[in-house]
Amino acid sequence: MAKSKFWYLTMAMVLAASMLLAACQPAATAVPAAPATEEEVAPTEAPAAEEEVAPTEAPATEEEAASTGSKLEIFSWWTAGGEAEGLKAMFDVYSGMYPDVEIINATVAGGAGTNAKAVLATRLQGGDPPDSFQVHAGLEVEKYDPETYLEPLDDMFDPSVFPADLLTMLEYQGHYWSMPVNIHRSNVLWYNKTVFEENGLTVPTTEEEFFQVCEALKAKGIIPVAMGTKDGWEAAHVFEGMLASTLGADGYRGLWTGETSWSDPKVTDALNFFKKMMTYVNEDHAAMTWDSAGEYILQNQAAMMIMGDWAAGWFASKSYSDFGWAPTPGSDGIFVALSDSFALPKGAPDADSAMKWLEVSGSKEGQEAFNPKKGSICARTDCDPEAFKAVPETYDYLSSAMDDWKVDSIVPSVVHGAAAYESWATDFKDTLTLFVSSGDVEGTQAALAGLCTDAGICE
Ligand code: GAL
Repeated sequence: MAKSKFWYLTMAMVLAASMLLAACQPAATAVPAAPATEEEVAPTEAPAAEEEVAPTEAPATEEEAASTGSKLEIFSWWTAGGEAEGLKAMFDVYSGMYPDVEIINATVAGGAGTNAKAVLATRLQGGDPPDSFQVHAGLEVEKYDPETYLEPLDDMFDPSVFPADLLTMLEYQGHYWSMPVNIHRSNVLWYNKTVFEENGLTVPTTEEEFFQVCEALKAKGIIPVAMGTKDGWEAAHVFEGMLASTLGADGYRGLWTGETSWSDPKVTDALNFFKKMMTYVNEDHAAMTWDSAGEYILQNQAAMMIMGDWAAGWFASKSYSDFGWAPTPGSDGIFVALSDSFALPKGAPDADSAMKWLEVSGSKEGQEAFNPKKGSICARTDCDPEAFKAVPETYDYLSSAMDDWKVDSIVPSVVHGAAAYESWATDFKDTLTLFVSSGDVEGTQAALAGLCTDAGICE
């Protein structure tokens, strides 16, 4: 059936009413949802102004409506354990509200979106966008040329339910281009409790202690640090945490704004820290993804792993709870942050379903379902911590992450799209991947300095 303007208006009202209803539900939490007014919950102007949102989307004929209607293609790279479960949990919330919409889970595997981002850019440029797609909050959005390919989502935002740090990260060229669903921490050291206990080890908090522990483990024939470097981002991921350790929060931040020199001796220290760590890593790291390397932890063959807190979601997906955590050595009090969000491409095939997806992604209910499985904390400030008890394996860690987020210095991750344009982030990743094999501290530091100049940030 062709969808008339009346249909869209009706849907807008249904959407607004159902969101209001959902927001008011006591659910598992009994904590009233933050949005106080209908406007805050689900801006009615969105679907009513359908033409403004996606001019090419409204089907012109009955046939077209039948072939394009009620489908929702969501594009992401969430295929690993924890990622896939989290996404499914949010799909389930969506399907509970809109059972007639068929969800197409379009994933391109590869941690940190290494493969997915390229595919997505090609699709956008080729006029073949999904209905909504995963993008990191921060400068990553520039890769997708938002003015040309994306719809601004300013009208959907209720700034009072998101932390100020996150809103700052999300704003690009005066607009919000995506709806945040979570906050992840990148600088986490995970450890196998049994291995630590059996070997009488305590969790290292400094670089020196870290290498003492590594030595002790190596002497026992245990892999000190499990790592996969197969997808080309993992080395840079670990390294950004080390930069935060040696430079401190302000020094680290300054690397991406030009206030900290890449020639700083503390950058040299971070490179040496990283280089030495690589001597304690499983030898087959180049053949491993981040999660396949995690199997060494599960099997008590490795003791530690430095990875973002999606690792907690992955552990949970394996029903594994024998893990502890700490900030990566030397980075206590610094929260290297990133946030996953969803954007609305211009010309989304089903913009109406996509708008509803963005509402669910930004909602308390959606985020409380997604994050305990994903291993992240809510992007919203009004999620009920009790809701996280649904996943016992991640509960303790995520409770501590919620606390840390409130008191730590928040700095943006570069590897996960927050701190720098994607072109710089990509070169940064490639440089660190090369460093894994070259071990050339001086050359790598010079190359990193050159990247900052190329990016137009350093002189
Ligand atoms: C990050 C993303 C996380 C997680 C991770 C590993 O870039 O923000 O949600 O999926 O990659 O794939």
